[in-house]
Amino acid sequence: MNTPAAGQAVRTTPRVSGQYGIVPGATERADPCTMVIFGATGDLTRRKLFPALYQLAAEHLIAPNFAVLAVGRETNETDESYREKMRAALGESDEVKRVDEKVWAWLAQRTFYAGGDASDETAYATIRQRLEEIEHDRQDAERNRFFYLAVPPSVFETIVRHLSTSGLVPRHDDPNARPWARVVVEKPFGHSLETACELNALVLSLFAEHQVYRIDHYLGKETVQNVLVLRFANSIFEPLWNRSHISHVQITAAEEVGVEARGKYYEEAGVVRDMFQNHLMQLLALTAMEPPPSMTADAVRDEKVKVLKSVRWFTPETIPEMWVRAQYAAGEIKGQPVRGYREEPNVSPDSQTPTYAAARFHIDNWRWQGVPFFLRSGKRLAKRVSEIAVQFHAPPHLMFGGEVKEHGALQPNVLVMRVQPNEGVSLNFEVKVPGAAVAMTQHVEVAPVDMDFSYAEAFGETAAPAYETLLLDVMIGEATLFTRSDEVEAAWKIIDPVLNYWTAHPAEPMPTYPAGSWGPKASDELLAPCDAQWRDPEGDHAD
Ligand code: BG6
Repeated sequence: MNTPAAGQAVRTTPRVSGQYGIVPGATERADPCTMVIFGATGDLTRRKLFPALYQLAAEHLIAPNFAVLAVGRETNETDESYREKMRAALGESDEVKRVDEKVWAWLAQRTFYAGGDASDETAYATIRQRLEEIEHDRQDAERNRFFYLAVPPSVFETIVRHLSTSGLVPRHDDPNARPWARVVVEKPFGHSLETACELNALVLSLFAEHQVYRIDHYLGKETVQNVLVLRFANSIFEPLWNRSHISHVQITAAEEVGVEARGKYYEEAGVVRDMFQNHLMQLLALTAMEPPPSMTADAVRDEKVKVLKSVRWFTPETIPEMWVRAQYAAGEIKGQPVRGYREEPNVSPDSQTPTYAAARFHIDNWRWQGVPFFLRSGKRLAKRVSEIAVQFHAPPHLMFGGEVKEHGALQPNVLVMRVQPNEGVSLNFEVKVPGAAVAMTQHVEVAPVDMDFSYAEAFGETAAPAYETLLLDVMIGEATLFTRSDEVEAAWKIIDPVLNYWTAHPAEPMPTYPAGSWGPKASDELLAPCDAQWRDPEGDHAD
């Protein structure tokens, strides 16, 4: 498909913030503010947060009155030594192609370090004092702050309590109050429905909902945001977006990586908490939700909550036939041998934690009655790929008597939204093979082809990393891409019964799949009643 050049038919601006506000030519800039990071030397800060801040600085999207105060346990660290570490982190980042020293100098001048244990209340006096020094020449209304919890969930509760009692984050019921104070929380938000509800109750007893930004980094991905644009800014898709035309939907989030150094976390989490409760539920909600009346944060989130509440609950009777779990065994990734999950560091040799899951979801509402949504995610799969594939019904009557190329039977149309890599959209349909010199009525050769849109080809750049989008949104106060408390709880309500059932019924033995494969055979059986197969995201069907 010929795609329009950037800036022509598709309106685009350099990194328009407030992603649903498609305003030609507009670039919003963040409010002046200070970002306080808890977990200053952690992986997230080095790999994601500083690269994202650097890119935002390079694109002049951060206000000049901006600062970062990184809080870490290391008490010997100084502003200077911390800046050196973050400069080195940028050099190692895949997201920063080349570090422009002028841009780095701009950010480095605004980067500070405070040593202290965030679970100890005395640290908050130090933080306050450093903030006062950093912000001393700012107007009162410019003393906006956001506190980013890049720390393990075990310390969330203590930190939010201290942020409140120290007065660093006063409750503001008025979203327009200045200066603002916000709290950004990384996933996982809770370990179960009960703990998520408790955490929500605590957070909302201390702060107003509009002050809390719960990150699901999938929402920061360009193609995930594009699901709504594709559906609601075009008139050709939405009339087909229902049970009359769609046979089923497949949502895949496959990873090549294993658990790496995160064995301890992953043993507690497993694929369902790590990927389904958040990222996959978001992809499902965006694909299936009704059009919101506007693109404001609450209007979009109301619709997401509504559709999550329509997901049919899993019960002990349905879980065994609707869900498949498995663990990766030793195998090969890109021709290199890799070990199995139970051999990974900090993983129990008889671990019951699934690294792969697949499930059949049903949405009990008018639009989706009878349309299964198949979801799968796993580590150490054949390929890193995330996509949403919408498969339409086969034509009701086939009158072509000739040969069908490639698959031996006509393929239903499939619309694929590629979340990553090679972000884009493709539509697969059947065409007549040229040159078949036979009567049209008798023998027509038919073959499937793709109409393909690629972000990189159309706009000459790949999608902005999710954290850039999300950090900018926090600085602007745009909450559409963050999960609201009721949304988190609605997602947990779907997932919790499955986790409880699996805890009560360990798999004996736990099914495995070789690293580098597409998961266990049992997951194919989930689709069998619909006479469907998992897509091979390379184009063909998986065997
Ligand atoms: C994180 C999970 O939320 O998402 C990781 O904790 C997973 O286990 C990651 O690897 C996948 O994100 P992405 O952006 O690489 O698809």
